[in-house]
Amino acid sequence: MSQVAYLHTSQGDITQSSVDAIVNAANESLLGGGSVDGAIHRAAGPELLAACRKLHGCPTGQAKLTPGFRLEAKYVIHAVGPVWHGGADNEPALLASCYRESLRLAAAHGCRSVAFPAISCGIYGYPPELAVPLAVFTVRDALPHFPSIEHVEFVCFDGAMLALYRTELANQDPPA
Ligand code: AR6
Repeated sequence: MSQVAYLHTSQGDITQSSVDAIVNAANESLLGGGSVDGAIHRAAGPELLAACRKLHGCPTGQAKLTPGFRLEAKYVIHAVGPVWHGGADNEPALLASCYRESLRLAAAHGCRSVAFPAISCGIYGYPPELAVPLAVFTVRDALPHFPSIEHVEFVCFDGAMLALYRTELANQDPPA
């Protein structure tokens, strides 16, 4: 199947993204936290926490979906990335699973556009030089299974992360 979705990267605050679904880098409790998780809960409003309470957590490598409430995005997909323990603790498979499961949920809910933060690359300590190629490869690899998704955005908080995504998106460009 041909690759029709458009992969893009940008620098900014994912809570401001005008997409159908934004992905949250959550923890297994799904009850909020710091960094991007905190920003998403603040922007979505207290209804988000109430909705998350009903989900009874989420295992690492999996994802669950809620409405976006006060966000422009219709949905928040709460993905739980692995904590980095050096790389021999199944971290790559768990991180890849987060991206695939998020896309699966997005497609199941009719989303055409999805924005991802750099899952696990903050508090959870996953080295961005390893996480970014994995994220780009996994999304590219999975998208043919979800042809209704037209646009995937990797939203970076800082310029160093943006540079990594830009390089990776260029490197992994499929042949014309
Ligand atoms: N928009 C886009 N990216 C952001 C934003 C934002 N508003 N804020 C931070 N980032 P992290 P993790 C970037 O720590 O490593 C929470 O407490 C950030 O610079 O948010 O998966 C959860 O509850 C980094 O590149 O997620 C968990 O306990 C990336 O988002 C834990 O942190 C991910 O950093 C999850 O840690």
